[in-house]
Amino acid sequence: MARADAAFVCQSCGAVHAKWAGRCDACGAWNSLTEEGPAVPAGMTARRPAKGRAFALEGLIGQAKEPPRRVTGVAEFDRVAGGGLVPGSALLIGGDPGVGKSTLILQALASFAGKGGSAVYISGEEALAQIRLRADRMGVAKAAVKLGSATCVEDVLATLSKDAPQVLAIDSIQTIWTSSLEAAPGTIAQVRTATHDLVRYAKKTGVSLLLVGHVTKEGQIAGPKAVEHLVDAVLYFEGERGHHFRILRAVKNRFGPTDEIGVFEMTGSGLAEVANPSALFLGDRGARSPGTAVFAGVEGTRPLLVEIQALVASASYGSARRAVVGWDTGRLAMLLAVLDARAGLGIAGQDVYLNVAGGLKVSEPAADLAAAAALVSSFTGKPLPEDCVAFGEISLSGDVRPAPQAELRLKEAAKLGFKTALVPPGVKAEGAGIALEAIADVRDLARFMGNQLPE
Ligand code: TYD
Ligand code: MG
Repeated sequence: MARADAAFVCQSCGAVHAKWAGRCDACGAWNSLTEEGPAVPAGMTARRPAKGRAFALEGLIGQAKEPPRRVTGVAEFDRVAGGGLVPGSALLIGGDPGVGKSTLILQALASFAGKGGSAVYISGEEALAQIRLRADRMGVAKAAVKLGSATCVEDVLATLSKDAPQVLAIDSIQTIWTSSLEAAPGTIAQVRTATHDLVRYAKKTGVSLLLVGHVTKEGQIAGPKAVEHLVDAVLYFEGERGHHFRILRAVKNRFGPTDEIGVFEMTGSGLAEVANPSALFLGDRGARSPGTAVFAGVEGTRPLLVEIQALVASASYGSARRAVVGWDTGRLAMLLAVLDARAGLGIAGQDVYLNVAGGLKVSEPAADLAAAAALVSSFTGKPLPEDCVAFGEISLSGDVRPAPQAELRLKEAAKLGFKTALVPPGVKAEGAGIALEAIADVRDLARFMGNQLPE
């Protein structure tokens, strides 16, 4: 039986269980439960006064000023953070190991220090010599960033107690631990308590805190999810293996929008900002080939054109295969079902592969029409017209639904030399310089692409 003061905590989602089990009931992860001591360190409750202290309530009307921002100078990073770092706030950057989180942080700190700011970088993962080598490679070795190699949160706070910097980066939350807990570093309890202490320090001193968190697959150590609720903003740094492009995406931000993305390219000398990414994900668009379509997308405030590639091949045996890169499997299944049920194409029995070019992940529903066009094109072997983009959401009834910011999409497509756009009905393009083809439903799409439809 479990002891009363112990609990089994899932290292991937943080759910607390009374008994050990092979699989976490809450998130379904296998082998992720480990025994941890009580979540609240002993003595924490005792420190509180026996009776609560009364505090004054205030009205909703008050003096709420837009907080002043600390702009690092790495524009793609600042924009995703909501226009710079907020004093006294904590920002978490999550991502797979090796994606470039440390590089991004060091670059932002070096740039901030170059503008006269004070920045401290604490690494629990790398020795100072390694960080210096990296800085050398990135060409920022002369930046006035103060370095420290530490893993104990009390050591960090003692070091910074006299002279708080403006920006403090901790790389990473999985290596940092507090001596007030017995649990091993990297466990949920350690990661949460250490993060909590750092966040409290930031709130008290007005430091802008940057935390790095590795996304972990096996659930052996606590991932960024375990502390998302403790911080003000959560950004994820994403990139596919074998691609140079890295996308910084906000998933939570108390001080800014969450639909912005920042685009970087990993080069031999650090991350290069890509200020105008709309043409990056178009693939090599030389010859017209069946199975590709260009989606006129929008990420946050910026238009982004992306090539979507489909391959429909007859299934060899057994059940049909489905594979996606940068796309959601469920949504592919939905599109195939709608194409079959509403346009009678007979695709569903085939092997289907769907790929978003350049390692981007597309989550806008408006990408449906472009994906459907790529699928129909590959299925029928007929390429889409050259210089054609598409956008529009497809509903279960097969209708093509409007998408927001149509004008912005069309303007960008026209700017990049596209001549035609497949759009939901009702879209206007005054002066955009692009011809519109209204597609009302999936039958319309199939017809447009030259298919004979059964009545
Ligand atoms: P890193 O920032 O260490 O990743 P993380 O902190 O997310 O684990 O980046 C690691 C990768 O980036 C590594 O494979 C090497 C590559 N890289 C470059 O290509 N160019 C560079 O200038 C730097 C510093 C790293
Ligand atoms: Mg790192």
